[in-house]
Amino acid sequence: MLGARGGWQALRRCASLPRAQRAVRLRVREALRAQEPAGGVKVQGWVRSVRSQKEVLFLHINDGSSLENLQVVADPSLENRDLTFGSAVEVQGKLVKSPHRMQDMELKAETIHVVGSCDTWSFPLKMKERHPLEYIRQFPHLRCRSNTLSSLLRIRSEATAAIHSFFQDNGYVHIHTPIITSNDCEGAGELFQIETSHEARESAEKTHFFNVPAFLTVSGQLHLEVMAGAFTHVFTFGPTFRAENSQSRRHLAEFYMVEAELSFTESLQDIMQVMEDLFKTATNTVLSKCPHDVGLFHKYIAPAQKTKDRLEQMLKNKFVTISYNEAVEILKQASQTFTFKPEWGCDLRTEHEKYLVKHCGEVPVFVINYPYNLKPFYMRDNEDEPQHTVAAVDLLVPGIGELCGGSLREERLPFLESRLQRYLDLRKFGSVPHGGFGMGFERYLQCILGADNIKDVIPFPRFSHSCLL
Ligand code: 4AD
Ligand code: MG
Repeated sequence: MLGARGGWQALRRCASLPRAQRAVRLRVREALRAQEPAGGVKVQGWVRSVRSQKEVLFLHINDGSSLENLQVVADPSLENRDLTFGSAVEVQGKLVKSPHRMQDMELKAETIHVVGSCDTWSFPLKMKERHPLEYIRQFPHLRCRSNTLSSLLRIRSEATAAIHSFFQDNGYVHIHTPIITSNDCEGAGELFQIETSHEARESAEKTHFFNVPAFLTVSGQLHLEVMAGAFTHVFTFGPTFRAENSQSRRHLAEFYMVEAELSFTESLQDIMQVMEDLFKTATNTVLSKCPHDVGLFHKYIAPAQKTKDRLEQMLKNKFVTISYNEAVEILKQASQTFTFKPEWGCDLRTEHEKYLVKHCGEVPVFVINYPYNLKPFYMRDNEDEPQHTVAAVDLLVPGIGELCGGSLREERLPFLESRLQRYLDLRKFGSVPHGGFGMGFERYLQCILGADNIKDVIPFPRFSHSCLL
């Protein structure tokens, strides 16, 4: 995000230029934060409102650098037909103190140039209207010009940086795990297979481009495990693909996942501590870097104050830990009737996850030690027959349910003998106890912002039967 410092330096430079060259370009955010009036300023952006009065013309300009618009005050003679809501403009003039209570600075226009006009009749966004999220979702190419999506995208950008900083500051090496892979890490078969368009058209007997069937990755975990075998602590943060035929509010076919892998780790608690620290550190950074953008979500998108208070609780309190056994007991004793009856050995459904979070006081809850048969091959056997569980952990959060999934990995060769050859090799050549987790980035954003639908926290949502743009 732009710092006010850049704007100040630019303003100082501009003061020493010959008059004719003086116009210095400021982003809206810089102009709003300027501490002193300055002449020869140029601002470019899109018109958010036009108000024409007899004596004066008011414009509000936004260029994506902040939620707040810059007010432009102009002589009505500068008005022209193309100067409408949605048009792109370049305004030159003087930055002056604003008499308006809500802003420090405004731009007194000397010239207004319409760079690109906008037909307001056919433009789907309307001036000063708060469009429902479902409505703007139909316009993936234009919704970034609405307040909600532009706030979301700035938050997303800050959250991405905060997550990278968290890991870098704690000594993790960032690894670019591949998007094209030949493994199904989770073993759930929810894969998108990759073929060249040529292969798709020709007979199935032709060889594959990679000689083996290849897929879009469902998780970077196995590649991260390779790297944890050399760098000890590693992370990745990239697009992940799952062919889940779901239209739900928390599933996408393409989503972003943050994954970490830690070598020389024998306790699930170590992994859980990283999840909790990541959540709290990244969220505190986002709250301090984009208070207005987050504020918009908490005020208008999330139901009445609840998300803000809930988030404060989450950041203040220690996350709760319960075992899968305890979780099933809590569910069995619940007065609520569930669509899916809770049973030991069955996966927890969203309704169960939400109930558990509520039961524990609306704070994040780690559920640990799941039945062996429910989880993928790589999870470490707890050897606790007759129950037979694995050292798995899911982090459940208010409003969403599962946010993170992780485990200790099975590092003992005999336990994996009939599994993947390369995975087995890692157990032959310097195998160490290790573990890790993955956090769905969109679910994280949903959780901290109180966004009900995952399709509203990603720029271009992809889900079954929809791939717009
Ligand atoms: O629990 P999952 O499947 O865990 C893994 O993939 C592990 N291999 C990660 C690891 O240990 N390195 O997925 C991790 C998280 C989920 O908890 C959820 O937040 C998110 O990814 N997720 C999805 N988010 C949006 N749409 C989907 N279809 C998702 N599937 C999983
Ligand atoms: Mg999971």
